[in-house]
Amino acid sequence: MEPTRTVSIIGTGSYLPEKVLTNRDLEKIVETSDEWIYARTGMRERHIAAADQASSDLGAEAAKKALEDAGIPATEIDLLIVATLSPDMFFPSTACFVQEKIGATNAFCYDLGAACSGFLYALDAAKNQILSGAVKTALVIGSEKMSTFIDWEDRGTCILFGDGAGAAVLRAGGEGRGIMQSAMGSDGSLADLLWTPGGGSRNPATHEMIDQRQQYLKMQGREVFKHAVVRMGEAVLQALEKNNLTVDDIKCFIPHQANIRIIDSIAKRLGIADRIYTNVDKYANTSSAALAIALDEAVKDGTIQKGDLVALTVFGGGFTWGANVLEWGK
Ligand code: UT7
Repeated sequence: MEPTRTVSIIGTGSYLPEKVLTNRDLEKIVETSDEWIYARTGMRERHIAAADQASSDLGAEAAKKALEDAGIPATEIDLLIVATLSPDMFFPSTACFVQEKIGATNAFCYDLGAACSGFLYALDAAKNQILSGAVKTALVIGSEKMSTFIDWEDRGTCILFGDGAGAAVLRAGGEGRGIMQSAMGSDGSLADLLWTPGGGSRNPATHEMIDQRQQYLKMQGREVFKHAVVRMGEAVLQALEKNNLTVDDIKCFIPHQANIRIIDSIAKRLGIADRIYTNVDKYANTSSAALAIALDEAVKDGTIQKGDLVALTVFGGGFTWGANVLEWGK
């Protein structure tokens, strides 16, 4: 295949599991209140996957919708990437499970680990594979069953997360500039502010590890908050500069959906409050799925129209962060 000059998103989809857990429901699980959660996070409710649904099941549902939206069969997918921090199992990859569920028999598949930043990193990876001419069509999914990795006895974290998945189909060519250059960064020195310390090769599964609840996500919320505001704001400006654009050129900004106060701070810093897209009230933080779900919703509800420039930005464990810009061509 010949290298291409543009890569476009030709279809999007998302899936939220049926069960809804409200702030009032959480009041029965930990010592908290609807008022506290809403005031501190902007969240009202979140969706929780069924016991027999794994991340690949959520991802496959989102993928089917994205393929339908794109109007292509799964067999046209050359590359399938799943961004997740809640894989079905350590290996094989969740991407291979999704491949089997949707019948993407001609794809090569892998998972990408960048915590909440995963979908944006995966978009960039897939875009570059297409730009090089290595593949023509890619399916990028952010899928999370966070409810199995959070500690339902820790009110500082369990109120914050939800389950869900979002997907995008990328293809060589298309009108406009398509997916443009990203600005991304990481800082491993801050890993312990947001991590799941147990269950891997550092601290494998033992009775003692489980008794200490180390298999669950731990976060120092206040610290993470400060870094998230700074890094996402900077990343947006860097991505705009790389693509010779300014804040004024952007029709819609979609940030990672972790906390409305983080989103509001970035909006204020950049002067973009009138153009920010958020759904954190309905879904809480779905980690790598959050950006993908929000993008799908913004397109489907008409917020994003053909020819609009859209800026995406993320922040997550690692730390990892990034931003990119795309021209919507569909
Ligand atoms: O996706 C990756 C990125 N993740 C994030 O960006 C999350 C970033 N962090 C945050 O969103 C916020 O830090 C939180 C929402 C997690 C916490 O908000 P905060 O304003 O930073 O509160 P805090 O942790 O400083 O806690 C304030 C108080 C504490 O009580 P004291 O020590 O002041 O008496 C907490 O014990 O609120 C208490 N608290 C709660 N109270 C009721 C903590 N969690 C809860 C709760 N319900 N669920």
